[in-house]
Amino acid sequence: MKTSLVPGFRKLSLDEKIEILKEFANLNEEDIKLIRKYQELPDFLELENNIGPFKIATNFLINGKDYFVPMETEEPSVVAAASRGAKLIREGGGFKGDYLDWKMIGQLQLIEIENMEKAKENLIKNKNKILEIANSASNTLVKSGGGAKDLEIREVETKKGKNLVLHLIVDTMDAMGANAVNKMLEKISPFVSDLCNGKVCLRIISNFAIKRIVRVEGRVPIEKLEREGYSGKEVAESILNAHYLADADIFRAVTHNKGIMNGIDAVAVATGNDFRAIEAGVHSYACKNGSYKPVSEWKIEDDFLIGKIEIPLPIATFGGATGSKKAKLALKILRVKSAKELGVVAASVGLANNLAALSVLGTEGIQKGHMKLHKEFLKLIGK
Ligand code: MEV
Repeated sequence: MKTSLVPGFRKLSLDEKIEILKEFANLNEEDIKLIRKYQELPDFLELENNIGPFKIATNFLINGKDYFVPMETEEPSVVAAASRGAKLIREGGGFKGDYLDWKMIGQLQLIEIENMEKAKENLIKNKNKILEIANSASNTLVKSGGGAKDLEIREVETKKGKNLVLHLIVDTMDAMGANAVNKMLEKISPFVSDLCNGKVCLRIISNFAIKRIVRVEGRVPIEKLEREGYSGKEVAESILNAHYLADADIFRAVTHNKGIMNGIDAVAVATGNDFRAIEAGVHSYACKNGSYKPVSEWKIEDDFLIGKIEIPLPIATFGGATGSKKAKLALKILRVKSAKELGVVAASVGLANNLAALSVLGTEGIQKGHMKLHKEFLKLIGK
């Protein structure tokens, strides 16, 4: 059986690690050559499952499937933490996750509109025509089942008067979609401008990707949380205390979410994704109701600690830098079949990092484990 649960993976030699990945993801000679090429360049190959192009997190079981997760980050303890969190959640049956919706939003700003009601009426009447023009800008997307699907009309009061903001709702399939959406917006703008009798300004994708929300849940049997000097129950309670503080206090919530993004960014970078777009989306989603909140939550139910994460995640397996050799290798090791699947994996990594951080922060503290890895790092660079 193919499993990413390999106790002591980090202690194996580079060759042994690569052999395991080769078997797991059917890597061919070209893939191995690429890995070896990166080994000529970076230092610190010995550190935390670093195989050259990226570090590898272990133990992930998500929707019943095993994953080794390539992560690109300068910080080895992030990968160690992800593997540790994943191992705990595996004890409760693994992560379960899905996307709620799968669309990106493009914005078209119109100003100097004389008759707002008439403009809105014209847009509604011509909705199908607008979608048709938008779709003519991206045949490939439409042929594969995606494309512009809907419109939303918003009035936004600005310091310089009222704007009409048209949202183009686009299914970008396995792409993040910025190029396709921007192209569509530029294509529809002359027609829309005529319909509204107004001036078109911005035409750009929104990174507040609230129609591409992923939800992941994981549970841990409380007794498995036991750490040296702390019972499982004490650890679970310290995690709840951490959660309540994050919920009540922005100073803590931002750090809580930063720990989650440690993992998600590292997966995004390894797979050639735009991690800045993802960061912007997640942090804005954290304050969608007007105050900044943690994007994960933890509770105790019966004998389990249960964690949930809900975030916008416009991650891709197609387009942009996802087509680079290194990103393709990362996707092959992941064995993901779609961007949706990759998004569920990335969100699971975020939840795993969150669990690992919270389980030590309120018990022995972060420095013990972190400093152990940091000392190894200093030894390697000769300090
Ligand atoms: C450090 O990179 C991340 C943490 O600060 C996250 C947290 O405090 O939850 C440990």
